[in-house]
Amino acid sequence: MRIISLLMSLIISSTARKPFSAIPCTVIDYIFAGNASQVLGSYPSCSPYYSGQNPDQHAIVQANMGTGRADQLVAAFNSTFSTGSWLALAIHCIGAEVYLRLTPAEATRLRKISYQKQLEAGVQNPGKGGLTVQRLGDAEPWDIPGSEELTSPLR
Ligand SMILES: *[C@@H]1O[C@H](CO)[C@@H](O)[C@H](O)[C@H]1NC(C)=O
Ligand SMILES: *[C@@H]1O[C@H](CO)[C@@H](O)[C@H](O)[C@H]1NC(C)=O
Repeated sequence: MRIISLLMSLIISSTARKPFSAIPCTVIDYIFAGNASQVLGSYPSCSPYYSGQNPDQHAIVQANMGTGRADQLVAAFNSTFSTGSWLALAIHCIGAEVYLRLTPAEATRLRKISYQKQLEAGVQNPGKGGLTVQRLGDAEPWDIPGSEELTSPLR
C-alpha cells in the first residue's frame, strides 16, 4: 500500500495538472509548528481557524512532492492513499488466486495432513467433513489417501 501510494504520489507530482486535497487547518498549523503568520501567508482561508470562528476550517493544498514542502507532501500522500489501498487489495486478491493455481501439489499435501489430524482427533468423515470443495463446489469426491502415500510427505 505504501509503495503504491508513494509511486502514485510521484506520478501525480510530475503531471502538469496536480490535484488538490482539503487539509484541516489544524494539521497545517501542526506542520508549520504553530507559526500562524507562515500558515496564513500560504493559506489565507485558514483565518477562521485562527480567529476561532471555525475550528474545523480546511484549506485547499496542492499535491506536489517536488517542492520539498511538508504541507504539499501531506496533500500528495493523502490524495493517493485511498486509490493505493484499493489497488493493493486487488493485487493481493489476484496474488492469492495465482498462488492457489500454481500450488495444487501443496494443497493436496496439506489436505492429507488435515485428513490425518482429523482421523486422530476422531472427527466424523475425516478429510471430507465441513466446508469442502465437493460439498460447496463441483470437485470430484475425495478419496482417503493410501497409508504409505500419506506418511511419506510427512517424514
Ligand atoms: C485527507 O483527506 C481527507 C479527505 O479526502 C480529509 O478528510 C482528511 O482530513 C485528510 N487528512 C489529512 C491528514 O490531511
Ligand atoms: C514564522 O515564519 C516566518 C517565515 O518563515 C519567520 O520569519 C518567523 O520568524 C516565524 N515565527 C516564529 C514565531 O517562529
